[in-house]
Amino acid sequence: MSGLAGAAALLLANAALPARADTVSLFCSSSGSEYEICKAGADAWARQTGNEVRINKMPAAWDEALPLYQQLLSAQSTDADVLLLDVVWVGLLQKNLLDLNADLSKDDIAQHFPATVAAGTVNGRLVALPWYTDTGLMFYRKDLLAKYGKPVPKTWAELTETAKAVQDGERAAGNKDIWGYVWQGKSYEGLTCDAIEWTASSGGGTIIDDKGAITIDNAKAAGALALAHGWVGSITPPGALNYDEEGSRSVFETGNAVFLRNWAYVWGTSQAAGAPLVGKVGVAALPVGAAGERSSGCMGTAHLGISKYTRHKDAALSLLHFLAGKDEQKRRAIAGAYNPTIAALYDDADVLKALPFLKDAEAAFAESAVRPSAITGSSYNRVSQAFFKAVHGVLGGDTEAGPALKTLAEDLATIKAAGKW
Ligand code: GLC
Repeated sequence: MSGLAGAAALLLANAALPARADTVSLFCSSSGSEYEICKAGADAWARQTGNEVRINKMPAAWDEALPLYQQLLSAQSTDADVLLLDVVWVGLLQKNLLDLNADLSKDDIAQHFPATVAAGTVNGRLVALPWYTDTGLMFYRKDLLAKYGKPVPKTWAELTETAKAVQDGERAAGNKDIWGYVWQGKSYEGLTCDAIEWTASSGGGTIIDDKGAITIDNAKAAGALALAHGWVGSITPPGALNYDEEGSRSVFETGNAVFLRNWAYVWGTSQAAGAPLVGKVGVAALPVGAAGERSSGCMGTAHLGISKYTRHKDAALSLLHFLAGKDEQKRRAIAGAYNPTIAALYDDADVLKALPFLKDAEAAFAESAVRPSAITGSSYNRVSQAFFKAVHGVLGGDTEAGPALKTLAEDLATIKAAGKW
């Protein structure tokens, strides 16, 4: 066979195969039904392209995954290709991530909400493509509020009162295990989210302002934390000081809480076919400290990025492009309540039907509180840890809110001096 004929025969033999079958790794979260939903997307891409995906299961509490990422990336490991990234990790990990601007079309990028693209961009480098957007929401038992003739609370004081009234009524009626309000009180990143919601919605700010000034030592923030401390043992089980998202979700979904603070995915799990609370759950923006304040759900956008040390760049880009694309975002919104970052999907009738809370909790999406990760960059982790540890101490009654925030502000000043933001 001539060289040419040989080449033609080879081309023909390969025609049914993808140009270059490859294996890429992907990190999927294991929170709620997220692993199955993530895997279904990866499998669909693999079928379509003839490539393979090796999935790494991330812990449900995301900040447990961060040290693993930091280890893999600082060792320049070639085992990590496509990474699921929390919005607050972008500044920390950006140096180890590829700039996607060069490899994605302008239209591909521009279809996402500008704020989410901005959150994934550092010094002009798009290192994290938006995948789904999230905000802290208030889930409540519609049936129980109706039974006790209570409106959906708009302020924290109303929530405190309603949670107590319904809890006491239900306990008297024999449901001894019910609590009024559950949330994430463990000493971890999730508590930074919950607590920033309390402070920001009470006019007490978001720890550090967008110019980098430390603002947390103020009376409104202290008042918000003192109120939350008062919930523990009254409307919130003391065990909540060890709850993450999944711990609090299971209390609510087994019927043992009137209100729950959590992310949108709980709509997907609580309303899945056959779940005990189907039809009994409402979703609203989180309450405010006083009329006129902003609802301030914590902004929790998830992004996808590619490690700079990948040896499978083309396949990794193809997978990222597929996962963050319109069809896959639509499927994930309907299957699991993962809110799209693609603006056009908010006009899609199927998406709107599957996610009625987008309308009910509109304020929550419009008024998100942003954690100070962009301004503090690589110091964010230390800032957040100092904050959630201080808050955890207040919730547990170790320290009063006022003095705790004063000490926190001093610690943050030291972190700021070292981090130079
Ligand atoms: C969710 C959010 C993320 C946040 C985390 C806290 O995963 O998307 O932004 O950091 O919860 O537990």
